[in-house]
Amino acid sequence: MKLVAGNSNRALSEAIAAYLSTALTKAVVRRFADMEIFVEIQENVRGQDVFVIQSTSFPTNDHLMELLIITDALRRASCRRITAVLPYFGYARQDRKPGPRTPISAKLVANLITHAGADRVMTLDLHAGQIQGFFDIPTDNLYAAPVMVRDIKDRFDLSNLVVVSPDVGGVVRARALAKRIDAQLAIVDKRRERPGESEVMNVIGTVEGRSCILVDDIVDSGGTLVNAAEALLERGAKEVHAYITHGVLSGGAVARITASKLKELVITDSIQPTEAVRVARNIRVLSIGTLIGEAIARTAHEESVSSLFD
Ligand code: R5P
Repeated sequence: MKLVAGNSNRALSEAIAAYLSTALTKAVVRRFADMEIFVEIQENVRGQDVFVIQSTSFPTNDHLMELLIITDALRRASCRRITAVLPYFGYARQDRKPGPRTPISAKLVANLITHAGADRVMTLDLHAGQIQGFFDIPTDNLYAAPVMVRDIKDRFDLSNLVVVSPDVGGVVRARALAKRIDAQLAIVDKRRERPGESEVMNVIGTVEGRSCILVDDIVDSGGTLVNAAEALLERGAKEVHAYITHGVLSGGAVARITASKLKELVITDSIQPTEAVRVARNIRVLSIGTLIGEAIARTAHEESVSSLFD
C-alpha cells in the first residue's frame, strides 16, 4: 500500500500514515511561474494499491486540480489501484440545479476525479449521501459520528442532553447521532412567513433547561449555527454546543463564532485548521486520522468498512 498526500491537509495525511505505520510516498507537488501545477512521484508505484489523500477545501480549485494531476501521474506510473481519499469533498453542496441554466458541479467534480484515473473514492460525511451515485466507481462515505459520540460520552451528562438539527434538511443526520447516544431530538425550523419579512426561528421539541448539541455536516459562514444557538437559548436551553464535521469557516466565521453565545464548537480535521481556528476560545478540533487510517487499512485488505460504524 502507498499513501500519497496532496498539499491540502498535510497534518492529517501524516496522522493517517502514522496510524498505518508507514511513511508518505515521496512526491513533489510544485508550481511553475505561471502557477500551473507540476507533480512528480519520486518512488516506484508500479502495481501498488495507492491512496491519494486530498481535501478539496480552500483554495478549492487549486486543491482539486492538484488531486486530478496527482491521480493522472499515478495512473501513468502503472499503479494497480488508485483510491481518491477526500476527507472533505468540496462542491458537494452544488448537488442539484437551484434554478434554470445552472450547473450540477458536484457531478462535474465526480466526473473529473473518475476520468483522471481514480478507481475508488473514500470520503467523509458527504453533504448528501446520494452524491455517491454521481460516481460510477465504488465510493465509501465514512461517518465522523463514532469519533463525536466518544467525545460526547466523555464530556456530557447524557440524561439531560438534546441533539438538535439546525435546519429541517439536517434531521436525518441529527437523528442518527441522537440514536447512538439515546438522546432526545429537536429541530430548528427557519421560516420566512412572507417575502421581505425577516426569518422566524421555530424550535420543534423541548430544550428548556437542557444542554443542546447542534449537529451538522458543514459550518461555513457560521450563520446557520449562531442563529440556531440563539433560538435555543431564547427558548431556555441551559447551554449550546455544536459538533460539525467539516470546519469550512470562511470569511468572518471564526470571529462570528467566538463572539457568539455558543459554548463550544467541535469540528474535525477533515479540513486543516487555520491558526485562527487553533487559537479560538470556543472551537476544538477532533482528529479523524485514526478513522480514515482504519478505513484505508480495511480497503487495502478487502475487509468490511461499513462494520466500522456498527
Ligand atoms: C447546509 O445545508 C449545510 O448542511 C450547512 O448547514 C451549511 O452549509 C452551513 O452554512 P453556514 O455556516 O454558512 O450557515
